[in-house]
Amino acid sequence: MPAATLTPARIQSLAASFGTPLWVYDAATIRARIKALAAFDTIRFAQKACSNTHILRLMREQGVKVDAVSRGEIMRALAAGFVAGGELSEIVFTADLFDHATLATVVQHRVPVNAGSIDMLHQLGAVSPGHPVWLRINPGFGHGHSNKTNTGGEHSKHGIWHTELLNALAAVRQHGLKLVGLHMHIGSGVDYGHLSEVCGAMVGFVKQAHEAGHDLQAISSGGGLSTPYRAGDASVDTQHYFGLWDAARKQAEALLGHAIGLEIEPGRFLVAESGVLITEVRASKNAGRNHFVMVDSGFSELMRPAMYGSYHAMSLIPADAEPRPLLATVVAGPLCESGDVFTQGEGGVVEPRELPQARVGDLLLIHDTGAYGASMSSNYNSRPLVAEVMVDGGSERLIRRRQTVEELLVLEAL
Ligand code: LLP
Repeated sequence: MPAATLTPARIQSLAASFGTPLWVYDAATIRARIKALAAFDTIRFAQKACSNTHILRLMREQGVKVDAVSRGEIMRALAAGFVAGGELSEIVFTADLFDHATLATVVQHRVPVNAGSIDMLHQLGAVSPGHPVWLRINPGFGHGHSNKTNTGGEHSKHGIWHTELLNALAAVRQHGLKLVGLHMHIGSGVDYGHLSEVCGAMVGFVKQAHEAGHDLQAISSGGGLSTPYRAGDASVDTQHYFGLWDAARKQAEALLGHAIGLEIEPGRFLVAESGVLITEVRASKNAGRNHFVMVDSGFSELMRPAMYGSYHAMSLIPADAEPRPLLATVVAGPLCESGDVFTQGEGGVVEPRELPQARVGDLLLIHDTGAYGASMSSNYNSRPLVAEVMVDGGSERLIRRRQTVEELLVLEAL
């Protein structure tokens, strides 16, 4: 989020009005990221990155469509005004399996299904002949910012293994399902050096489908575009990215003999940089060589450092004008877990960070938390979910109120 949007005075006022911890999103940043991908026919937001219905509405106002990976995400998309049904549906359901309730919802709303297993095609075909489907293919290789976000290759549970494509197409035909397109998502935080390999694989799959007598309307390049988290990280070259995929699309069109659509399915790229987490310093302590600063949010809010060793930039907003020398600091949260540390690398090794000396009452801003921040939060240690606010120019709007402990307990009042 641009520093000019969130001045220290505004951060203090947001914290005073809405409390901490607090997720804040900047609408202007989201709109700018959407614009950067305008060359694609369809931008389909992978809402798992940030599924607040107000964010979804903002996306829809900008002409963005949406991907859903659960019944809950389908219901969120519908609540935000997205319309399901037909090959050009605004909502697509992507998964590797159906639970019973989700299958029923998909059929009820005729949400096209991006199938990651042949069993899904049989189960859908049995109850909804003619249903629009995409095939998600695992091309046999993938990339990710962490092993946990690499979704291609034989270690990955995702997608239909590439040598099974003809069997999947046979299942499509057997059930009279309507093939819309082919899809690949090989991971999050992908290495762009391999992009031409990915595009080449897609053209090969279109060729196989065509030769097996299938037609299709679109291809999807999936998501995975990386975003800068550290100072000096490069931003993705969206023109280069589009250019490679557009060339693949043209080769596919030459095979099929007609024009097809080109989709992209980003999550992180659209929202990561729009978001910050505001948290308050509540304690500090020394333990041997380490200086700990303890804040009022933990991995119950922002899971990424504990889960992947992810780096998030931080800035201190001091509560007073006292000088603050730089100190090697371990930033930790309130949870009863030694891994509840925001400054750690993969494997859980604590990585102290140079930060201005923090005092109780200061605010700490954790940057680039718009993607996989709030959406991966939990109620661990019986901590209620945190409030979310959207800023848009001068306006500030609560887009999710803070959960209460009473709301947690009510589920158990049987
Ligand atoms: N499409 C599919 C089928 C996906 O599985 C995902 C992400 C995306 C699109 C969007 O990927 P993105 O553009 O956001 O990289 N929790 C991890 C990321 C897991 C992503 C899961 N799937 C993180 O915090 O980095």
